[in-house]
Amino acid sequence: MSFSRREFLNKGLLGVGATICSSNSWASATTKLFLKNDEPNIIIKLTAKQQLIDVGEGIKTKFWSYTGELIKGPKKTLQTTNGSYLGPTIEVRSGDKVRIIFKNELPEPSIIHWHGLDVSHENDGHPHNVIETDQTYQYDFVVENRAGTYWYHPHPHGRTGFQVYQGLAGLFVVRDKEEEKLNLPSGDQELNLVFQDRYFNEEGQLEYRRSMMGAFGNKLFINGTSQKKFNVKQGLYRIRLLNGCNARIFNIAINNGQEIKQIGSDGGLLERINKLDRFYFAPAERFEFLFDFSKFLPGDIIKIESLPLVEGRGTKYTIMEFEVSDEAGVVFKEPLKLSNFTKIDPNEAINLNSPKLFELIPKRGVGWTINGNGYEADRYEKYEIIKFGDTEVWEFYNPTGMPHPMHIHGTQFQVLKRYSGRLQGCLDHGWKDTVLVLPGDRVQVIKRFNTYKGTFIYHCHNLEHEDMSMMRNFKII
Ligand code: C2O
Ligand code: CU
Ligand code: CU
Repeated sequence: MSFSRREFLNKGLLGVGATICSSNSWASATTKLFLKNDEPNIIIKLTAKQQLIDVGEGIKTKFWSYTGELIKGPKKTLQTTNGSYLGPTIEVRSGDKVRIIFKNELPEPSIIHWHGLDVSHENDGHPHNVIETDQTYQYDFVVENRAGTYWYHPHPHGRTGFQVYQGLAGLFVVRDKEEEKLNLPSGDQELNLVFQDRYFNEEGQLEYRRSMMGAFGNKLFINGTSQKKFNVKQGLYRIRLLNGCNARIFNIAINNGQEIKQIGSDGGLLERINKLDRFYFAPAERFEFLFDFSKFLPGDIIKIESLPLVEGRGTKYTIMEFEVSDEAGVVFKEPLKLSNFTKIDPNEAINLNSPKLFELIPKRGVGWTINGNGYEADRYEKYEIIKFGDTEVWEFYNPTGMPHPMHIHGTQFQVLKRYSGRLQGCLDHGWKDTVLVLPGDRVQVIKRFNTYKGTFIYHCHNLEHEDMSMMRNFKII
């Protein structure tokens, strides 16, 4: 087991990844455990439990959700939406020392994963770190990621899809100085939107129906409620999207083909605005864009839509709407340059000319697999062992008829090349942690394994595929 010095200082007195007992006074139970200058500046308690919530259907629906309690840190660290089943949005800054105490009050084992954050094995929510009912797990990490939209969700093997579907997820927003200098739209003019589908039966209760395709719903939820219409001021907005669905892929467009100005992806801001008229948006992907509502009249409706995934097959549907009010917003400008994005030099990779190949295929008796291998708790193939400090090229090949959004834990990667099958329009710009591999696609990503040693996982983020074994360990030594 290994950890960086920085973490060693934090963990030394408590024991790595220790499970501690719950206590009534968290603050006093924890403060003694840190050396003075290594104290966390943010302490949060997150509890997963069953709750009855009226998400706007006039009915109390049984959910499993995270509730948060801020023990230390600025008030805006935890933001909740009324009537939502989602966990609080956690907002921190790059460099923050964060302690999160997770209490499992669910009737089954669970563990939280911080999707997109670069943390050590002990803090990553690996499925083998699940805790039982009524146990707690303490995370201590320094936020190393740049500003961006990350998120958190459970990660127990075989149950991730079910637990997320019950409502367990939340956003994790990171801010930093580089971003602040841009003066992007903020306050009311910054919106976080999480898209999820759920199947509600006639009694207004959730039904988890899974198949080889995943679990799909008959209703869409935005930020964990059934509110679909949002009032906006006449001004420039910064809008963050997370596809928090288990399996649904959207083909996002704004009505009448209006231009979408992408500013960020999974791992934060792009270098410059990327103009799109539509894009595929897969589970776990994040997307940030600017939209100017000042050119509209009061009462105008702007729609975010999903076009048919394949042109000519099926019909488009509205995901949500904005209604423009008569109020003028604060004036913000679109920056010409967004960030200092550095492209990873392909020659940095030790295997540029012989990428590691990962075939996304089903296998009889196993389920969905990667190279014919299903998930095995403590196993790696030789090609799943990586030397610390190396940069590698991985190639995902999808010979099936089903899309697979592939996610790798640890550092953010970049898409090096895509040989498309029949369909175009995946999100390949910027730093990524999840990349959509459509039928027939061959996608090469380049990734640095230079931050933490240890065991991490990579998997399909169609959560039913993941649970049906489309997940593997990799080990950095
Ligand atoms: Cu969002 Cu391993 O997951
Ligand atoms: Cu992840
Ligand atoms: Cu898949």
